[in-house]
Amino acid sequence: MTQPYEPNPPTGLGIDEINLADPDFWLRDDYHAALTVLRDERPISWHEHPDSGKGFWSFVDYEDIVEVTRDWENFSSKYGIRVHHDHGSGQVRPGTNIMIEMDPPEQTANRRHVSRGFTPRQVKKMEEYVRDQARRIVGEFSAGDEIDFVQDIAARLPMEIICDIMGVDPADRPYLLDLSNRTLGDQDPDYGVTPAEGTRATLAMREYGVKLAAERLANPQDDLISEIARIEVDGKKLPEEQLGGYFALLIAAGNETTRTAITHGMHAFTKFPEQKRKFIADPVGLEMSAAEEIIRWATPLRHMGRVLEHDVSYKGHTLRKGEKIAIWYAASNRDPNLFADPFAFDITRDPNLHQSFGGGGPHFCLGANLARREVWVLFQELFSRFPDAAAIDEPVRLRSVQVNGIKSLKVRL
Ligand code: HEM
Repeated sequence: MTQPYEPNPPTGLGIDEINLADPDFWLRDDYHAALTVLRDERPISWHEHPDSGKGFWSFVDYEDIVEVTRDWENFSSKYGIRVHHDHGSGQVRPGTNIMIEMDPPEQTANRRHVSRGFTPRQVKKMEEYVRDQARRIVGEFSAGDEIDFVQDIAARLPMEIICDIMGVDPADRPYLLDLSNRTLGDQDPDYGVTPAEGTRATLAMREYGVKLAAERLANPQDDLISEIARIEVDGKKLPEEQLGGYFALLIAAGNETTRTAITHGMHAFTKFPEQKRKFIADPVGLEMSAAEEIIRWATPLRHMGRVLEHDVSYKGHTLRKGEKIAIWYAASNRDPNLFADPFAFDITRDPNLHQSFGGGGPHFCLGANLARREVWVLFQELFSRFPDAAAIDEPVRLRSVQVNGIKSLKVRL
C-alpha cells in the first residue's frame, strides 16, 4: 500500500467508449470519472452488451433515479431487475415470483408478509445477537494475524444473522454461502460459474427454502419462516413455494450486499486513517453516520433494473415498451451537487441521502435497518479489539456489472 491513494483518477475513455454493460468497464480504476462524464454530458444513454448486441438505457442522475423508482407503473420490476441477463424483453419469466420482481399491489401484499421481521423494533431487539455474533467472529483472531477479511469476517456476519433470523441449521450455512456466491459471481471467471449455473444456484436456494418451509409448517419454531408460515390469506396458509421464494430472496439480498459494505468500509478506514481514529474515539456517537457513509461509499449494488411497461417519452428520449433501464446508484452516490467532496470518505457526513438502498419507492430495501446495524456493530467490535487493523494489500474486485463486490482483502489485525 505504498502508492498514494487516488479514489477518482481521471478517465482515459471518450464518452462514446463508455459502456456500462461491459463487466470489464467496472474493473477499471477510472470508472467513477467515466460516470461523471455521463452524468454531466449524457445522463440518459443506451449501452449494449459486448456479446449480444442487446442492451439497456442507463440513468445516472439522482433525480431521474428517484423518478424511475417512484413511477413503477411505467418502470416495472416484474420482468426482472438484472439488466445484464437477457431474458427477452417484456416477457414475465417463470419462477421469479418474488416481491423484488413484482409491482404493487401484488408486491405490497407480499412485502407485508415479511416486513414484520424487519421493523425498527425487531431489528433493535436483534442488536445484542448481532453483537454476540460479531464478537464471536472477531474473537477467533489475535492481534497481528493476517487474514482474508472477506472470507474470515465480512462474509460470515451477514450470513450468520440472516440464517439465524430464518432458522437455518448452522451445518447448512456454508452450503448456502456457496450458493449465494455462485448466484452473484456469474460474470467472474474466477468463480467458474456460467449464468446458467448462477440461475441453478438461485433455484437450489429456493428449493432449500421450500423444504425448510414445509418442515416449519408441520413443526413451527421461533424463527421468521415459521412466523410467515402461520399467515393465512382468505383462510388458507401460504403455499410452500411462496415461503421458499421469501427465503431465497432474504438470503440473497441480505448477504453479499452487507458483506460488500463491510469490506469496502475496512478498505476505506485504511485509506482514510483519520476517519478510523474518529470512529475509535466515539464509536457510539458516530455509529449512525459512519454506517450511512460506509454504505454510500461502498454502493454494494451499482444499479437496479426496470423494464418499460409502456412507451414513455422522458426528457426528449423515446423509451419503448419492453426496453430495459438501469438506474445507477454508483453514479448518483458521487454526485457533487448532493454530496460535498463526494470522493472523501467522511463518517460525520450529515445529511447523507445516498441511494445505496434504492431511490425510494415501493422496493426500498427492506433490510436497511438491519444492514446499518450489522455494519456499525462489526466495526465497533473489530476496532475495540484491534485498533490497528488495516488492509495490507489492494482489494481483489469482483467482475460484475451489478455487484460492487470484493473477492478478497488482505488485512493485518
Ligand atoms: C448494505 C446492505 C444492503 C444494500 C446496499 C441493499 C440494497 C438494496 C437495494 C438497492 C434494493 C432494491 C431497491 C429498489 O429496487 O428500488 C434492495 C431491496 C431489498 N433488500 Fe436490500 N440491501 C442491503 C441489505 C439487505 C438486508 C440485510 C436484507 C434482509 C435481510 C435486505 C433485504 C432486501 C429485500 C427483501 C429487498 C426487496 C424489497 C422489495 O422488493 O420490496 N437487504 N436492497
